[in-house]
Amino acid sequence: MEPVKVGILGLGTVGCGTVTVLQRNSEEISRRAGRQIRVTRAAVRDLDKPRPCATGDIRLGTDPMEVVNDPQIQVVVELIGGESLARELVFSAIRQGKHVVTANKALIAVHGNEIFAAAQEAGVVVAFEAAVAGGISIIKTLREGLAGNRIEWLAGIINGTGNFILTGMRDSGRGFDEMLAEAQRLGYAEADPGFDVDGIDGAHKLSILAAIAFGIPLRFDKVYTEGISGISREDVAYAEEFGYRIKHLGFARRTTEGVELRVHPTLLPARRLLANVDGVMNAILVHGDAVGPTLHYGAGAGAEPTASSVVADLVDVVRALTTDRENRVPHLAFQPDAITDLRILDIEEVETAYYLRMHAADQPGVLADVTRILGDAGISIEAILQKEPPPGKSIVPVIFITHRVREAAMNRAIASIEALAAITGPVIRIRLESLNGH
Ligand code: NAP
Ligand code: HSE
Repeated sequence: MEPVKVGILGLGTVGCGTVTVLQRNSEEISRRAGRQIRVTRAAVRDLDKPRPCATGDIRLGTDPMEVVNDPQIQVVVELIGGESLARELVFSAIRQGKHVVTANKALIAVHGNEIFAAAQEAGVVVAFEAAVAGGISIIKTLREGLAGNRIEWLAGIINGTGNFILTGMRDSGRGFDEMLAEAQRLGYAEADPGFDVDGIDGAHKLSILAAIAFGIPLRFDKVYTEGISGISREDVAYAEEFGYRIKHLGFARRTTEGVELRVHPTLLPARRLLANVDGVMNAILVHGDAVGPTLHYGAGAGAEPTASSVVADLVDVVRALTTDRENRVPHLAFQPDAITDLRILDIEEVETAYYLRMHAADQPGVLADVTRILGDAGISIEAILQKEPPPGKSIVPVIFITHRVREAAMNRAIASIEALAAITGPVIRIRLESLNGH
């Protein structure tokens, strides 16, 4: 049988990783797919850039639309990134009846609802395993492996760059900027690294996971998002004293009132498996009613781990070339007419525990005032730590760990605490999840 001809848009970190894996494992991959997969064309921005993966077999150009429009190309692999050009290219491929593989979470999170509707209409597959958690097959697992479950919640470390930075700050005391530069050098970070550190990349991925887990549309616009750039070494150290680690967590949960979708720094008990996912590694804890908790772990970014997912999608797509279009696995796991638009909760409606750090005057009655405010707001305290004042100073750091409470009640309590004359500066608040022992 003729090899399947593939065009790759973008030969950067992931594009080159994909070509390398396809070439190195070509025999094993064709034994799985039933046909050879051959990259015959690719598009890049700069033809003069040294690119060891671009061998003579691949016709290289600078116009990605030319690759999409080439009648010889059966499958388009979009690895350019960004939203607008990628959207145009993907829609054009769909209109021409071509299957698409992409690693682009921004594209899927923001335009996925319309892309999947168009793909369904055209009878083509748009595969996106590499868009979430790099090399971990979490899309396939949620969509197929856990299809018998009602998924209750999931929690994940889903940004490799952010986890790499937080791990470095904790373990080697290196600074935020230094760790970010290293993540960029290693090809982990987005073109705009603000997407990684501000939690936008995590929010893209969380909205994809939640859609597939709960059968809801993609709702990136509704994800509550907080980044990690405000996390100080002080908070990392105090969290450790209490037996916790700070991770940038994505959290999605179904409640009777609606769906929680949030990405923010989170204290996790240090004994939890998720708390020990370090460096560029990602992990997603999924709780299904039948299976209970399952943990999915692996590299969250980088050339070959991400290529592993892109190539797996390519194998699926090649198999799909000969399958009945009506009987394919739905893009978002649930049949398109069975997707239900549940209400997404506002962050003020969400209930979590909290870590609070404040600077208090070292004088009698201050702690009593703070605990009275918390008590009046119905907030129960689990632990308090008061540090010695630094030499020559009369301001002391005080840290509280609270039990679970609605965010709205905590906001009111924090405003009252900050209004106390004996409290200096803002109260630092980091949410805390115990993950029910998992
Ligand atoms: P990258 O290294 O910046 O590569 C982007 C590639 O696209 C480059 O080859 C670039 O060409 C090419 N390109 C950009 N604009 C173009 C245009 N207008 N015309 C033609 N070619 C163009 O990015 P990446 O890290 O591989 O990421 C690609 C996608 O994968 C993104 O959606 C990203 O979010 C996603 N992703 C990345 C990772 C990771 O670990 N890096 C993991 C999972 C998913 P030049 O080389 O000539 O500049
Ligand atoms: N910039 C992303 C990350 C790439 O660091 O997780 C993988 O999606």
